Amino acid sequence: MYNVKRFKSLVLLLVLSVGMAPYAFAAANSLYERLGGKQAIRAVVAQFVSNVGGDQRINHYFAKTNLTHLKAMLVDQICAGSGGPCKYKGRDMKTAHKGMGISDADFKALVEDLVKALDKFKVAKKEQDDLLGLLGPMKGDIVGQ
Ligand code: HEM
Repeated sequence: MYNVKRFKSLVLLLVLSVGMAPYAFAAANSLYERLGGKQAIRAVVAQFVSNVGGDQRINHYFAKTNLTHLKAMLVDQICAGSGGPCKYKGRDMKTAHKGMGISDADFKALVEDLVKALDKFKVAKKEQDDLLGLLGPMKGDIVGQ
């Protein structure tokens, strides 16, 4: 009798462990975790915005922008989008870029500035691709608005 109970408990434990494993695995392997969490995202965003500031092709767009606010919004957006514990409270991408007349070339330049920042912090190719995969689909709401 004791052994049957014990066996049942063991089976239950096994079923629970196997059942929960994908969730634990997913949380530990979110892009947010793989990027190194909020501090790492902050560092990349600071470098990214600095690169944009030095980029003659597109820095004129940011002449009147509050860069501290922009950085905070980008950190929250990337943190939230990559599965981190943040909430993005900024404007939606269509509204934020409305009337700017951002072109394909501008968008490409900004992505180059981001990749430069990711390279500087030695973010691996897989994580770079995943991050660009997250931001890329926003292009339609940003270019030509
Ligand atoms: C995937 C690409 C991009 C993402 C994820 C992105 C994200 C953002 C975010 C989160 C904000 C802040 C919104 C807010 O304050 O409510 C913002 C603002 C801004 N973005 Fe972008 N952006 C992208 C591409 C671009 C490009 C290509 C340009 C121009 C070359 C640009 C120019 C600006 C400017 C000038 C602002 C500040 C607007 C202001 O000062 O009110 N963005 N963007």
